[in-house]
Amino acid sequence: MKVLIVGSGGREHAIAAAVARSPRADQIYCAPGNAGIGQIAECVPIGAMEFDKLTAFAKEKAIDLTIVGMDDPLVGGLVDEMEAAGLRVFGPRKNAAILEGSKAFSKDLMKKYHIPTAAYENFDDPQEALAYLETAKMPVVLKADGLALGKGVLICQTLEEAKEGVRTIMEDKKFGAAGNRMVIEEFMTGREVSVLSFVDGRTIKIMSSAQDHKRALDGDQGLNTGGMGTFSPSPFYTDEVDAFCRKHIYQATVDAMAAEGRPFKGVIFFGLMLTEDGPKVLEYNARFGDPEAQVVLPRMKNDMLDVVEACIDGRLDQMELVFEDNAAVCVVLASEGYPVSYEKGFEITGLENFADKEGYYCFHAGTKAEGGRIVTNGGRVLGVTAKGATLQEARTNAYAAAEWVHFDHQYMRHDIGKAIDEA
Ligand code: AMP
Ligand code: GLY
Repeated sequence: MKVLIVGSGGREHAIAAAVARSPRADQIYCAPGNAGIGQIAECVPIGAMEFDKLTAFAKEKAIDLTIVGMDDPLVGGLVDEMEAAGLRVFGPRKNAAILEGSKAFSKDLMKKYHIPTAAYENFDDPQEALAYLETAKMPVVLKADGLALGKGVLICQTLEEAKEGVRTIMEDKKFGAAGNRMVIEEFMTGREVSVLSFVDGRTIKIMSSAQDHKRALDGDQGLNTGGMGTFSPSPFYTDEVDAFCRKHIYQATVDAMAAEGRPFKGVIFFGLMLTEDGPKVLEYNARFGDPEAQVVLPRMKNDMLDVVEACIDGRLDQMELVFEDNAAVCVVLASEGYPVSYEKGFEITGLENFADKEGYYCFHAGTKAEGGRIVTNGGRVLGVTAKGATLQEARTNAYAAAEWVHFDHQYMRHDIGKAIDEA
């Protein structure tokens, strides 16, 4: 089979690596890809939002299957456009990707179908939002409706801060058109867990759980990032939590989307918070998590192409997902200054240390090949992942492997997976 993967981050590298393990994968392309992906796939210089070019490329190369990794092209309708051209694509259509593309939509869906989530109100008008805040309990959470690179969420401790936040989102349009509408919701406390799933429109199969570390610095200090590291499975995702979510959240979400005439095929990422009142949905994403994919996919025993095709063809009920009975930890090596501003173009050395090391992976995020060298090309540069028999062992291995590579102005968190000691 000829496979095209759309995206350029660590998640797409992990997807490409999973596809490459399939004996059915003859040739893998990635648009636009990065230097690491380029070692297992042929990278093509087409951006993820260049729908016409992607479609033309897939037709020209007779691509058998396209896997869309990123949220923007999914929400923008790439799957619809490629399907209209007769191509086979894995990912939700535009009318289903709205599950991630509009937080107001997803909150209304959860309310209508009694799926547990934080109490909330949606607003189109900043004056109404400001008036509502006068009676709201603090802290309060403000969310821009649309996609905002994971940055459109503000947790406000005081009324003043919250008012300022409404102005930032709806009037100053800090997150652009994503802030034309907003959700104001109740602040919840508890542990967060990421659960990824494969969905074929009707059937949902859950992958092994994970947890992300979103803040830039140790001890959950500093700004929110795309994710500084992950571990899988989460010891806090107990059988009891799993049973609750199966009963009240997973199938309920898939059924709700089908009932709304928006059948979801692809990956649903459930961002859950384990509150005192039970698990609640923080957010949905319509794709694999980054860097969740980097710890979940290396542990999946199934042939990735078999699972993806079962989703497309509506045969997921005949498939069982199987994960290795071990653990994985991913430590992100970032450029100093990320997530605000950082320099690019520093040479990365030591990558060869990962060659043929069973259970160790160096997933590339922001990298590029330049004159025979590989240089940094983004804020998150590498995701160093290691497996272990236990989470503790995986963490020790991942931090050891993080020392194998170097680039100038590199930083990482030193406490990825530390919470597992409390479990
Ligand atoms: P989201 O993009 O909706 O996942 O929000 C980003 C992060 O903000 C989440 O991972 C949580 O850490 C935090 N967050 C979002 N909603 C809430 C909430 N209702 N209560 C507390 N924290 C929240
Ligand atoms: N790691 C969180 C996300 O992919 O949105």
